[in-house]
Amino acid sequence: MSNKKKHKILVLGVNGFIGNAIYKELYPYFRVFGTYATSSTVLEKNKQFFHYNHEEDDVVEILEATKPSIIISALRGNFATQTIAHQHISEYIKQNDCKIIFLSSANVFDAYKNYPSYELDKTLSSSIYGHFKIKIENMLMRLPKRKWAILRVPMVFGQGAPRIEEIKTYLKEKLPIEVFPNLIINVTTDDKLSQQIHYIINRNKSGIFHLGSTDLIHHDEFIKEIVTSLVVYNPIYKQVYTTNDDRYLAVLPKENLLPKNLQIESKDVLKMSIL
Ligand SMILES: NC(=O)c1ccc[n+]([C@@H]2O[C@H](COP(=O)([O-])OP(=O)(O)OC[C@H]3O[C@@H](n4cnc5c(N)ncnc54)[C@H](OP(=O)(O)O)[C@@H]3O)[C@@H](O)[C@H]2O)c1
Repeated sequence: MSNKKKHKILVLGVNGFIGNAIYKELYPYFRVFGTYATSSTVLEKNKQFFHYNHEEDDVVEILEATKPSIIISALRGNFATQTIAHQHISEYIKQNDCKIIFLSSANVFDAYKNYPSYELDKTLSSSIYGHFKIKIENMLMRLPKRKWAILRVPMVFGQGAPRIEEIKTYLKEKLPIEVFPNLIINVTTDDKLSQQIHYIINRNKSGIFHLGSTDLIHHDEFIKEIVTSLVVYNPIYKQVYTTNDDRYLAVLPKENLLPKNLQIESKDVLKMSIL
């Protein structure tokens, strides 16, 4: 069976930064549908795309209209209504031949400071965002394992990434750029993440994936390298210290390793972000 027939994929948040990259990676190979919350005439004319606002609409209507075999959740917005949406998605998955790929975050470990985190480590967060992601993760983990893939993702960069655009705006307006000198992170790009998702779909992989660069880098070093590539004059930095010692916010793989060509180093993330 050709892939086009094999999977019907629904990308929730198809017009977002990551959702859009995923769509571009997958649509040549699969039947891909998507949802958007902010209307535009281009999206409205495209029959593959559905207007959906989780604060107002029930996701079940979209699921029934598209009957996906894979749902990729790349949403943002109100945590309470996102939670309800994922409860309805879970019910749908229980009853149908369907799997979810959920974009989670390194923040599910943001209460730990001393080490990078691995797939089987217990999650613990001190942020509302981290708590929310943990809640959805735990809900999905109650489904049969073949029906879910949880992708824990660190800060995403890449060409045109909102994080890069924000730096450019701050530079233009000569505003201080926030850096966290004792925060050790790993990073990725929207394109690499999309290729990794493509692989997870093709190989029918499930479970927890830690999809950050293989190496770690200090936040201030990484951001300063980006800034140096963009300007010649002396930029202004605001150094933010949240702890006295180094603190990790990094997700590394140990159990679910992807092939070498799908791994990335922070220097490649940098290169791909400042093209
Ligand atoms: N970017 C990162 O560095 C990063 C890191 C780790 C994890 N993640 C996770 O990756 C996912 C995607 O992030 P992103 O950076 O691509 O975000 P984004 O660019 O802000 O995209 C979010 C998407 O959610 C949709 N959305 C927002 N409010 C909605 C609502 N009320 N109802 C329905 N849809 C709504 C938006 O639709 P419209 O565009 O149509 O308004 C957009 O398509 C998120 O779950 C995020 O937590 C991101």
